[in-house]
Amino acid sequence: MTSTAEETVQQGRTFTTIGVVGLGTMGAGIAEVFARNGYTVVGVEQNDEGLARGRQHLENSTARAVKREKLTEAEQAELLGRITFSTELKDLTDADFVVEAVVESIETKKAIFRELDAIVAPDAILATNTSSLSVTEISTANSSPGRVIGVHFFNPAPVQNLVEIIRTVVTEPDVLDDVKGLVTALGKSPVVCGDKAGFIANTLLFGYLNHAASMFEGKYASREDIDAAMRFGCGYPMGPLALLDLIGLDTAYEILETMYRQGRDRLHAPTPILKQMVTAGLLGRKTGRGFYTYEGPDSPVVV
Ligand code: 3HC
Repeated sequence: MTSTAEETVQQGRTFTTIGVVGLGTMGAGIAEVFARNGYTVVGVEQNDEGLARGRQHLENSTARAVKREKLTEAEQAELLGRITFSTELKDLTDADFVVEAVVESIETKKAIFRELDAIVAPDAILATNTSSLSVTEISTANSSPGRVIGVHFFNPAPVQNLVEIIRTVVTEPDVLDDVKGLVTALGKSPVVCGDKAGFIANTLLFGYLNHAASMFEGKYASREDIDAAMRFGCGYPMGPLALLDLIGLDTAYEILETMYRQGRDRLHAPTPILKQMVTAGLLGRKTGRGFYTYEGPDSPVVV
């Protein structure tokens, strides 16, 4: 018997409560995006210090929106009121969708996906915001790898429109469809790709960023001139060295290392100055100094 159109329409999952594990720059930004769109958010960090940092990040970012008259104070309070904070993964029992945004360590991520197994409902979707680690390997830590997917936001998450969705060879088709719908409901543009280190955007972007750092290292041109060339010559919103400072040099180094290890593309072999700066603690905006010097995480360049 042929079924009617109504009968074949799949009713996707309804998402109400979102768990965000890790409230660093990306995690806090992702929590803000969901809360801005009316979702209830539970943010999890490993200790009170991490929670305080995440909460501060959310307060600063929403205060900036109030200052720019994009949010009223009442809307800001409502948005922040949708977010609760916890140091326990077990507080994610009601989450329909969990996005993990902790450090780029495969073991840390796998431990979280293993633990979530016994906490969330069987049809909850588990996503990782990894920039370059294997989503497939992370998924093997969960007893239902078919519900694990990559959801890669860009920095700053409240501003950048793109979300890469990474499907593994075992991601269930309905999980992919529901996540595409969810990303679209956030007002973002999803693109879908397979599970290869760097995905689409970082594979293309980081060869360029690495080359810019190498040009600076070789004293070929000043940081200002390298950045100005790409801003004013090519219309990029910021130059490559300022962007490395925004991303964080530790994160950038890790991404390049992983891509180089996997793809052996010379373009991704991290230029030595990156490692030196990471070792010296010059991580970019988050530590106040990278290629440039900053007054605070979001302040303009002062030196
Ligand atoms: N958090 C939240 N909002 C921010 C923000 C932040 N850190 N920085 C800027 N904004 C908002 C501002 O409030 C403003 O919002 P509005 O238009 O609603 O008022 C808007 O962004 C524009 O800000 P500004 O006018 O202050 O500054 P710019 O116009 O110079 O924009 C920028 C700043 C959005 C960072 C822009 O320079 C940009 O898009 N740069 C490129 C960023 C980029 O390439 N990101 C991708 C990095 S790669 C990545 O994330 C992948 C990962 O795996 C490493």
